[in-house]
Amino acid sequence: MKPREIKKDIYYVGAVDWDRRLFDSLIPLPDGTSYNSYIIKGTEKVALIDTVNPPMKDVLLDNLDELELKRIDYVIFNHAEPDHSGSIREILAKYPEAKAVCTPKCKAMLIDRFMVAEDRFKTVEDKETLSLGGRTLEFIHLPWVHWPETMVTYLREDKVLFPCDFFGSHIATTEMFVRDAGQEYEAAKRYWAEIMMPFRLQIQKNLEKIKDYKIDFICPSHGPLHDKPQYIMDAYHSWAYDEPGNIVVIPYISMHGSTRAMVGYLVEALARRGVTVKQFDLAVSDIGKLAAALVDAATIVIGTPTVLTGPHPNVAHAAFLANAIKPKAKFATIIGSFGWGTKVVETTAAMIPNLKVEIIPPVIIKGYPKEADFQALDKLADTIAGKHKDAGLV
Ligand code: FEO
Repeated sequence: MKPREIKKDIYYVGAVDWDRRLFDSLIPLPDGTSYNSYIIKGTEKVALIDTVNPPMKDVLLDNLDELELKRIDYVIFNHAEPDHSGSIREILAKYPEAKAVCTPKCKAMLIDRFMVAEDRFKTVEDKETLSLGGRTLEFIHLPWVHWPETMVTYLREDKVLFPCDFFGSHIATTEMFVRDAGQEYEAAKRYWAEIMMPFRLQIQKNLEKIKDYKIDFICPSHGPLHDKPQYIMDAYHSWAYDEPGNIVVIPYISMHGSTRAMVGYLVEALARRGVTVKQFDLAVSDIGKLAAALVDAATIVIGTPTVLTGPHPNVAHAAFLANAIKPKAKFATIIGSFGWGTKVVETTAAMIPNLKVEIIPPVIIKGYPKEADFQALDKLADTIAGKHKDAGLV
């Protein structure tokens, strides 16, 4: 995408990556993504905010040429992850007078990863400012959104926040601002689940730290920009603080149909009791959709057959991810079937130590479910619905 003016002398110069389908060789990107960079011109100095993923560096370099910039004085690195910092060597080579501006931790990480010379850096402390002439950049250290070195940049006179990953979403679009609020909400929620949710408590502190800043625009480094920023700030507040909903998420897999029959029965039983259920077959599910569903689930029910005494490997993968992203669920349990012997409960429970949940007694059966097994699932549905009610989630 060519440079686009956001406000007078503030330009979008980033790159839209329509075709990328996986991030970190892990996170699905069903809607592509973008690496947003911005040019801010003052009366005396010019700043570039963040760079782009290395394979798209020519898009950024061409955009800077198109603006016919004589110089760039500061390149602001809000975050050291290579999708935003990876063009550092090319940018600093093209603009030899430019200083890389970042937190001290970010400087160390950029030197480690990109072998940039020490004298190219200017580190900034929390709340430090830099004048561009008529425009002032304020750097607010917000660690753990989502690495330890992260900061955001606030352009005071224009009330624009450049938060890098914070408030972002993986969407490729030709629209500069959010115009499809439904698509944005879903994409931002899965993005929150995948990279921000593990740091929910630190993010609460960070939301508190920026709450008194007047913000007209949020310009993140992924996805469309926010010209109605309250929308995404309210969403982040809700995801960070709110109690989970009256929701059960069931990630499961079945090999010969027994566990699937149990899951189907339990879904119906819960729905009859007024509980919302989201069911994910781990043989085919988008793991990002599962992560998003975990944001406000009160209970997680893992469904797995027994494979070589433990859970199915796809379930182990999902359990590992759920443990890493630390959803705020309050209850968990396991259901499933085995053929001749099992240690599935002990093995699976040991995989989720980070989940601060009350374990509800599992329902593990031999072979295909029979009348007594369905009764046990009805009892489990009663227990879950009752716990949600007692916790005030209904
Ligand atoms: Fe978009 Fe943490 O990088």
